[in-house]
Amino acid sequence: MSSNAAKVALVTGSSRGIGRAAALRLARDGYDVVVHYRRSPDLARETAAAVEALGRRAWVVEADLEDPAAVDRLAGAVREGPGQVDVLVLAAAATAFKTALEVRAHHWERTYRVVVGALYQLVERLVPLMPAGSAIICISGTGSDRVIPRYSLLGAAKAAQEALVRYLAVELAPLGIRVNGISPGIIRTDSLVYYAGEAEAALTEEARRLSPAGRLGRPEDIAGVVAFLASDDADFIRGQIIVADGGITLGMPGLYPGPF
Ligand SMILES: NC(=O)c1ccc[n+]([C@@H]2O[C@H](COP(=O)([O-])OP(=O)(O)OC[C@H]3O[C@@H](n4cnc5c(N)ncnc54)[C@H](OP(=O)(O)O)[C@@H]3O)[C@@H](O)[C@H]2O)c1
Repeated sequence: MSSNAAKVALVTGSSRGIGRAAALRLARDGYDVVVHYRRSPDLARETAAAVEALGRRAWVVEADLEDPAAVDRLAGAVREGPGQVDVLVLAAAATAFKTALEVRAHHWERTYRVVVGALYQLVERLVPLMPAGSAIICISGTGSDRVIPRYSLLGAAKAAQEALVRYLAVELAPLGIRVNGISPGIIRTDSLVYYAGEAEAALTEEARRLSPAGRLGRPEDIAGVVAFLASDDADFIRGQIIVADGGITLGMPGLYPGPF
């Protein structure tokens, strides 16, 4: 893309982690970026400064995606700011890491609002700002189809999000909007450190041992897939969830890598 193309990306949850890496990668590819955050204004401003250092424009918008009124404000800020969205990346997520028996109504309400509700709402509000050739990319996760300890809430919400990716891919196709998702494996971010707690070193070692890639993922690994799905090269990929996990889910537990 030429540096004058002035295409615009909105990346939810781009103050940190995978969202931040996606924002910076898209800026490097020539997009102006709306940086969205919830609780980390300083980090969001850092992301925006890094976008601007790459020669692109940046807007910083706060919105708690649990709150439909805040989602509306985010959409309004995009309309009043760049006025257009060429790539919408849904990276923000929040949950309570609990077993299914421990989950209470307020837990699932909050998680589903962020992961599923905000997607419906942003699609409704932003599709009118998305020209033909635009892309929507959802960051899902392995927990949608594999069982991860204390992950039922986010796993089930991500499964719902993946189903919605397929519906949107069909329903938005007449508008020229492509919709896909990415299922990252274990990526080193703040969330991972929080989830793993004291087991972080052991988890890192297990990922090294069990993954054909021989390492944990980096946010940039996922940002590269975002860039591809955003590009015209991905025009024939519709409604798919691209697994980017270093191959760690390929193995048969107990048999791979095994002492053979
Ligand atoms: N890391 C992994 O191993 C992994 C694996 C599979 C899938 N994923 C998925 O990848 C995505 C990014 O994860 P990450 O590990 O990069 O997370 P992270 O580093 O913890 O960042 C989370 C981002 O989401 C934002 N956020 C959290 N709750 C929010 C809310 N209620 N409203 C609006 N924004 C909110 C945060 O904003 P503030 O900074 O302002 O709080 C932050 O920008 C998530 O969808 C996650 O489920 C991650």
